[in-house]
Amino acid sequence: MPYAELISALRGIVGDRGLLTDPSDTAPYTADWRRLYQGRTEAVIRPASTAEVAAVVRLCAEAGAPLAIQGGNTSMVGGAVPAENGRELVLSLARMRQVRDIDPLDMTMTVDAGMTLKAAQDAAAAAGCLLPLSISSEGSAQIGGVLATNAGGNNTVRYGNARDLALGLEIVLADGQVWDGLRRLRKDNTGYCLRHLFAGSEGTLGVITAAVLRLAPRSREIVVALCSVRSPEAALDLFARFQAYDPAAIQAFEYMSGMGMEMVLKHIDGTTLPLAQPADHYALIELASPRLDAGLREALESVLEKALADDIVIDAALAESEAQRAALWRLREEHAEAQKREGASVKNDVSVPVSKVPDLIGQASEACIGLIPGSRPVPFGHMGDGNIHFNLEQPEGADPDAFLARDHAIMDAVNEVVRALGGSFSAEHGVGKLKTYMMPEWRGGAELEIMRRIKRALDPAGLLNPGKVLPGSME
Ligand code: MLT
Ligand code: ZN
Repeated sequence: MPYAELISALRGIVGDRGLLTDPSDTAPYTADWRRLYQGRTEAVIRPASTAEVAAVVRLCAEAGAPLAIQGGNTSMVGGAVPAENGRELVLSLARMRQVRDIDPLDMTMTVDAGMTLKAAQDAAAAAGCLLPLSISSEGSAQIGGVLATNAGGNNTVRYGNARDLALGLEIVLADGQVWDGLRRLRKDNTGYCLRHLFAGSEGTLGVITAAVLRLAPRSREIVVALCSVRSPEAALDLFARFQAYDPAAIQAFEYMSGMGMEMVLKHIDGTTLPLAQPADHYALIELASPRLDAGLREALESVLEKALADDIVIDAALAESEAQRAALWRLREEHAEAQKREGASVKNDVSVPVSKVPDLIGQASEACIGLIPGSRPVPFGHMGDGNIHFNLEQPEGADPDAFLARDHAIMDAVNEVVRALGGSFSAEHGVGKLKTYMMPEWRGGAELEIMRRIKRALDPAGLLNPGKVLPGSME
């Protein structure tokens, strides 16, 4: 079917509001947040219901039209943008954003895939519960994308990743069939765990249209501190001290470098450092409990006092109000934006065993500076679960394009360190387009073969998110 005909048939399914074809309307869907990829598309399809998604996917399958499946388009690895060849149509879930159900006794919520993570968090909070997934892009990232990429974020140390929160999924398969797996059971051993297969499949096996998410009790006491620490080793020591106090109390334990903090303070309006002196290393600690009398403030103060006395912590600021808590978190969450404003940077979203995080930071910094003298390592992230964003910022005043042209050399240098430490080349951002070339080396042999067989079984024509995850998949 010629594309003009297909597009008019698609309009028949989703209506005028559900179809964008004007290049000025489709432009935001064709470039990724990092501006690494500039794709092209004839149309962005925006269905408003699962039935419409199913009809769209069925029609595209019949026409042999590939689909780039997109949520909030916040991927760090080019996972949601269409290819440069212009053949892919973009399937956006953004108009599907209803809460279908919240049950505070079952501790579950059922939501449409296009709802932003922030809106879902707010809906859970309004019902007296906590949706315990928190990522820097939560204002734009959508539930479908968050699950499709198995996003992690700040609370993984306590609650696991997105996959761990998905009790049920609703999926539109490559041929347009709908699998209604919206069960909200804690125990359900009935064959292969399909929801775990679709979570993290990055849109290559099916389209997530809705999910049942596991909720947690809302926190009644939350305490947050920002500390300057002597070294990454000192940050890890501090983490171990909080774990020894009560691992269940730790809601987040984040590391930041002096370089990253400097960039946030320079580029992000309204940020200030609430400590006497800037430092080379920082830790942000959040403790939380559903109990009102958990004594977390006393615990935080006593662990920090001892760490100050032992010269592990240099200085500490404790949030005294919700506004101060938000201000401390802003210093951490604006890291990606600040680095973008500073210039070109190459991201390495990697994980190692928690105990190896200081080795990773030290050895990868050395490797990168050796490779590109003057380049600026900006390691930061989720120390409590072993996931560091080992980002490398271009040397000051250098040509950004020349720096970015070396991205594979930089990623490979960091990955060599990661491999030696028993880590992974992608912790929470996924493989997307950017890291497909790494798959044979890291996941080759039987593992990649299993993935290819699954892909062939579920999407034999290779129409769902081509060019993502699997190397050599059709574009
Ligand atoms: C974060 O934790 O802020 C994100 O994963 C962003 C990043 O890696 O730059
Ligand atoms: Zn992160």
